[in-house]
Amino acid sequence: MRTLNVALGDRAYPIHIGPGLLARPELLLPALKTPRAIIVTNDRVGPLYLERLRATLEGAGVSVSAVELPDGEAHKNWQTLNLIFDALLEGRCERSTTLIALGGGVVGDMGGFAAATYQRGMPFIQVPTTLLAQVDSSVGGKTAINHPLGKNMIGAFYQPRLVLADTVTLDTLDARELAAGAAEVIKYGLIRDPEFFVWLEDNLDRLLAREPEALAFAIERSCRNKAEVVAADETEQGERALLNLGHTFGHAIETGMGYGEWLHGEAVAAGTMMAAELSRRLGWLTQQDVDRIGRLFERAGLPVWGPALGVERYLELMSHDKKVEAGRLRLVLLKSIGRAVLHGDAPAEAVAAAIVARCR
Ligand code: NAD
Ligand code: GLY
Repeated sequence: MRTLNVALGDRAYPIHIGPGLLARPELLLPALKTPRAIIVTNDRVGPLYLERLRATLEGAGVSVSAVELPDGEAHKNWQTLNLIFDALLEGRCERSTTLIALGGGVVGDMGGFAAATYQRGMPFIQVPTTLLAQVDSSVGGKTAINHPLGKNMIGAFYQPRLVLADTVTLDTLDARELAAGAAEVIKYGLIRDPEFFVWLEDNLDRLLAREPEALAFAIERSCRNKAEVVAADETEQGERALLNLGHTFGHAIETGMGYGEWLHGEAVAAGTMMAAELSRRLGWLTQQDVDRIGRLFERAGLPVWGPALGVERYLELMSHDKKVEAGRLRLVLLKSIGRAVLHGDAPAEAVAAAIVARCR
């Protein structure tokens, strides 16, 4: 097992990464306030892992209830969030009961938002079961639901007390979902870790083949990058925005296509190619750099072209981005492979041209 720490003072918490962790009560118990927990999962992950986690907790004397949500990004909304509140109230869960999110980023984001708001905040644990959730969404305390007009627009910063990433759970993940997670892994290389980008160029095939050593290395390195950024800028006043490389374009794709049509990681990959193209037009990246980034995404089976929504529609959707300030769009762009910047002065024509150039 590898353990990292998210250094947030008295709200610091560990990230445990390794095989078989769902069966380790001694890792879970320190994060529980009382011996009572509610597991939030969905109807795909529940049948696979709920009983395993329940048995671990009950075997250690914890009283456990559970709620299974409908699966999918299309259900990341108020109606589904309310199912969690129904279960919390019907089960008479207390403010000290711990909410454990067992699943991918959708379950983690919704479970976290419910934990942040139920009785103004209850203890929260992330048990991520997708690559994307293990390398990104379970760490850092961003919780949210979608709105029809914009992705993740309603939410809260609310840190978990523990992240428990059992790498064995990735064995049951679809190849398409694994690839979507690889998009966020590649992101860390692009924004702040050029050595990791080169490692990924050399080892991507091992990662996609789910070789345990390659997976463990990539998850730990990704979480280390994320934990450093979150510790430095928990509520995204500056550096944390860089974790959103490709996301302004990508969220426009997800919302514009209808939630669930494009996976989040797929939209991030195509969106990152738009950001890379714009960075080239600003004279920062070379065409060779853009091609090099595209090759890595393509090897992962990720899209490198966005859908042809029309440039006006892209810009309208992008105007709802959370990084918009005083009406001005700010984009994460690349100065080089391994160095991202937040830029609010890209000429509108260059933004539009980059979108058009990367759509098919
Ligand atoms: P997801 O939660 O929809 O999971 C993908 C699919 O895999 C789902 O069908 C899920 O039920 C299934 N699944 C999960 N674990 C499985 C397993 N072990 N075996 C088999 N199937 C399994 O999607 P995701 O890619 O994990 O997360 C995407 C979401 O995360 C998006 O909503 C995105 O906005 C959010 N996100 C949040 C943050 C953050 O910082 N909070 C960061 C990145 C992404
Ligand atoms: N996924 C972006 C962030 O956590 O800030």
